[in-house]
Amino acid sequence: MKALSIGVLVSGRGSNLEALLNAVKEHRLQSRVALVISNVANVRALEIAREHSVPALHLAHTAFADRASYDRAVVEALTGAGVSFVVLAGFMRIVTPVLLDAFADRVINIHPSLLPSFPGKDAAKQAITHGVKVSGATVHVVDAGMDTGPILAQAPVEVLLDDTEQSLAARILEKEHVLLVDVVRAFEEERVHLSNGTDGVRLARVVPGGSR
Ligand code: GRF
Repeated sequence: MKALSIGVLVSGRGSNLEALLNAVKEHRLQSRVALVISNVANVRALEIAREHSVPALHLAHTAFADRASYDRAVVEALTGAGVSFVVLAGFMRIVTPVLLDAFADRVINIHPSLLPSFPGKDAAKQAITHGVKVSGATVHVVDAGMDTGPILAQAPVEVLLDDTEQSLAARILEKEHVLLVDVVRAFEEERVHLSNGTDGVRLARVVPGGSR
């Protein structure tokens, strides 16, 4: 078992951050959240961090010339806080190799669709627009693309006939909170294995473990 020192990057509401912090508080995770960084000021996620006595930093991307220099500042703050593992939890920015190389295969993202369907913004709206019958949540290792990278875990959510974007997103969000904690636990328990698939595509395999 390896307790992780987690850095969480956020941009808004922070419900996934809260799910992680509650899991830590209730000892369903052994790790700790060492730092929360938001690129947006005055968001609920920063308040949630403070309520859990976790250092919370607003680092405005607008103060930096480009993505790479922003990520350099993020990496500096994360490493300064002793972070060994990074969770993108509603972080509305594409990250660069500056961050990904500093935390190789140790950056994960949560997304509200069954990737590779519906990457990017408005995933629930895209699901409704396309008339899919099943959508869901995905946690994946982050690479340089948008919502790409080895898929770690997925949870399906049925799309109902009378679903709106909001109602579907709300049911997906409930699944996200569980899935994210489960994946972090898999990293703690060293049950995550990355390999090269047949087409050179990187794949992740999560060995099932006991649930807590
Ligand atoms: C979630 O739906 C997540 O999948 C997506 O952004 C949303 C963030 O929600 N990447 P919250 O800030 O965790 O409440």
